[in-house]
Amino acid sequence: MRALAYADYQALRSDAEVIEADFFGDKVLRLTDGNFMKLFRRKRLISSAAFFPYAKRFASNALTLRKRGIPCPHVLDTYRVADISRDVVHYQPLPGQTLRQLIADPAHFQDAALITKFGRFVAELHNQGIYFRSLHLGNVVMTPENELGLIDIADMKILRRPLRKSLCLRNFQHMRRYKHDHAWLLQKGGDLFFDSYIEHSAHQWKRQILSEHLASAKQA
Ligand SMILES: Nc1ncnc2c1ncn2[C@@H]1O[C@H](COP(=O)(O)OP(=O)(O)O)[C@@H](O)[C@H]1O
Ligand SMILES: [Mg+2]
Repeated sequence: MRALAYADYQALRSDAEVIEADFFGDKVLRLTDGNFMKLFRRKRLISSAAFFPYAKRFASNALTLRKRGIPCPHVLDTYRVADISRDVVHYQPLPGQTLRQLIADPAHFQDAALITKFGRFVAELHNQGIYFRSLHLGNVVMTPENELGLIDIADMKILRRPLRKSLCLRNFQHMRRYKHDHAWLLQKGGDLFFDSYIEHSAHQWKRQILSEHLASAKQA
């Protein structure tokens, strides 16, 4: 990760569109050339983020995901902008629309093929040992090639073997946090999503994963 002077950072971001911001300032910028910059705040000096900053994790995850055939943003560079205590990842966006954007349209909301495709996608992530902590429909993109891919990829664990059962279950819990996402997944009793997940999962305990998930969902 190279140091970027504040003046050079400002030159890069001039006339950029702010896509996401919070109390602390800009989070995601669309630059005038169409590329993106995502900013990570450097919080404490002593934390795992100091040793392996999120901007670098984003770049490293992008390489691994590409190798495994999962579409994701193409990282151009990572920077540290000391004057504003930010780490920055500069990338080409993954073309397409997030699933959350897509299902805002009622025709897509009811598209059974889309839910089936998403069930298969989640099963394939789990088969490949990809534990994506930010798994929700705002971070999954449908590309113009009609493939699903991931954005917002700073926070994931990528293992060499299929995810163990507890991580699959925790990943389903992540998906339950957003009401509208959940309503989409659970239409027709959730069968479309889970039938597809089970069909494509390579996990030896896949049926147990499903029944444990359904039991905990009922309690929640
Ligand atoms: N690679 C990308 N491809 C397409 N859209 C993106 C991409 N990265 C970010 N976006 C857009 O910016 C929004 C926020 O980006 P994201 O990386 O998910 O940040 P966060 O969720 O932390 O705000 C997304 O919902 C999406 O609309
Ligand atoms: Mg996001």
